[in-house]
Amino acid sequence: MLISGRGSNLQALIDAFGPQVPGSPVRIVLVLSNRADARGLERAARAGLRTAVIDHKSFSTRDDFDSAMDREIRAAGAEFVALAGFMRLLTARFVTSWQDRMINIHPALLPAFPGLDTHKRALQAGVRFHGATVHFVRHETDIGPIIAQAAVPVLPGDDEQTLAARVLEAEHRLYPFALRLVAEGKVRVEEERVTIAAANFASSAVLNPAGPV
Ligand code: GRF
Repeated sequence: MLISGRGSNLQALIDAFGPQVPGSPVRIVLVLSNRADARGLERAARAGLRTAVIDHKSFSTRDDFDSAMDREIRAAGAEFVALAGFMRLLTARFVTSWQDRMINIHPALLPAFPGLDTHKRALQAGVRFHGATVHFVRHETDIGPIIAQAAVPVLPGDDEQTLAARVLEAEHRLYPFALRLVAEGKVRVEEERVTIAAANFASSAVLNPAGPV
């Protein structure tokens, strides 16, 4: 799990898949941060997980930083990478070497609102629904085959904070839901689209852990 800050999504993943969960389909072998002050590191330590900090500022190139991360990740025995609020752009080399084995959560219904300030931009655009997306990582920022999405309504009177809080709550359900699908081998990427192999996933509403709005 790669983080840079608060780590509330990390916490949701720890709650779902941490060492305290018997029979978890995911084993978290490393929580890696590019910032020593990331609050998520405390959450990881509290759960008894291995942590590491690799400060991007100690490297002169992105490639050197990504290589150092890659070594640490592989040394921990990881087979899969989950970005959870990791705020650095990744090099093509790193992304390619984890192709279809690295996922990210983005606080918008992609392909709408890639990048930063998604809640502000959603309010400015006047959309009636906003939400979050878990997707495989590709070199372009916030692009990649979509695994699952959660939609929330934009309500009259919402400001950036209220909307962000509603989306974050949905994120905390969505990320464990999506990672579980992948870990249980139910997700296939074909021609840059995801298909979910599961008996009773007839409607896309079933894929929305927030439930129909
Ligand atoms: C979340 O909104 C996530 O979607 C985005 O960064 C934020 C991280 O929050 N990629 P947290 O660190 O998980 O609390």
